[in-house]
Amino acid sequence: MGEMAAKLVYAAPDAPAEVVATVDVRADRAAAVGSLLGVPGFASLAEAVAAVEPDAADLRLPHDLHAAAVLEALAAGLHVLVEKPLATTADDARALAEAARRSGRVVAVAENYPHLRTVRAAAEAIAAGRIGDLVAVRSTRAYRIGGVWVRDGWRTGAGSAAGILLDQGTHHTSLLRRLAGDVVAVSAAPGRSAGDTVGLTLRFASGIVGQSLYTWQTPATVVETEATAYGTSGRIDIGIAYDTADGRAVLTTPDAPPETLTAGENYYDSHAVMVADFAAVIRDGRAPVVGVADAQADLDVVLAAARSLAEGGREIRLEEAA
Ligand SMILES: NC(=O)c1ccc[n+]([C@@H]2O[C@H](COP(=O)([O-])OP(=O)(O)OC[C@H]3O[C@@H](n4cnc5c(N)ncnc54)[C@H](O)[C@@H]3O)[C@@H](O)[C@H]2O)c1
Repeated sequence: MGEMAAKLVYAAPDAPAEVVATVDVRADRAAAVGSLLGVPGFASLAEAVAAVEPDAADLRLPHDLHAAAVLEALAAGLHVLVEKPLATTADDARALAEAARRSGRVVAVAENYPHLRTVRAAAEAIAAGRIGDLVAVRSTRAYRIGGVWVRDGWRTGAGSAAGILLDQGTHHTSLLRRLAGDVVAVSAAPGRSAGDTVGLTLRFASGIVGQSLYTWQTPATVVETEATAYGTSGRIDIGIAYDTADGRAVLTTPDAPPETLTAGENYYDSHAVMVADFAAVIRDGRAPVVGVADAQADLDVVLAAARSLAEGGREIRLEEAA
């Protein structure tokens, strides 16, 4: 993802920030991504900080390294944009939140779904009452994992960084919370392997119900209707496209032709919007679209779902898990 961010976000003529160095524990990768941007690559953050004195770090690391990397970057006085999930344990997330508070630096989290135009348009239409009262939400993330995403094995292995729940569950929890608000309880069921396929039932504070299904075991389609919000007078379908610019949000009611709320979006467009938000927050001091508290709430749901999986599918109340 660091390489993709370099190509899609930082190499663009209107990039929201200037990259001064890249870092990867594998120096060959740091150098390769650095060469895309014409900057030096280093094998550690400490070396980069000593050499180029950056203002901020954009961290795109395996999940179990996020919390320690944020602490290291904050200790070096940097503002931080960190990938999802915020951490892999509630204790690490709490320690990170405390360090972020003390530091006075910006910590934004790279949960990019809230930066998608489709998600923003859907959330605004729901808030404006365009589908009446919200009664339920659903989401699906279905594709076959492979290629660059499995090159080092940590995502699909057995370690604390692994599994589709941490990887995609974090995204879809953030997506559904944007549409339907806070989650109060969750139960989860595994597919043949919980690492690859998981289904969740979510209860929201508003009293509505949601369902999410994630799988890495089926071919993707060009535009997946990843989420639907159902209301008393209509629905909104959110289509996400990874390889094309066909993402769109469509509002359907019984009395009118379907209304396209927004269209022409590629999933990765949201990464540029997200980095621009991070840079703007550093400059003007407002809160990021996804800050630590929001990402902690998403992680709490994911960790409660993991506990439900471990306890045979029992519904876990978030207050019980805290
Ligand atoms: N939001 C999205 O659309 C999206 C998409 C893909 C990945 N991601 C996220 O990006 C993050 C990275 O995922 P990825 O697929 O790019 O992983 P990856 O394994 O491809 O890349 C991680 C890189 O970190 C390096 N690394 C490992 N330990 C390090 C250390 N201690 N110091 C410096 N570098 C170290 C590795 O050598 C590797 O090059 C994850 O949090 C993932 O969830 C987000």
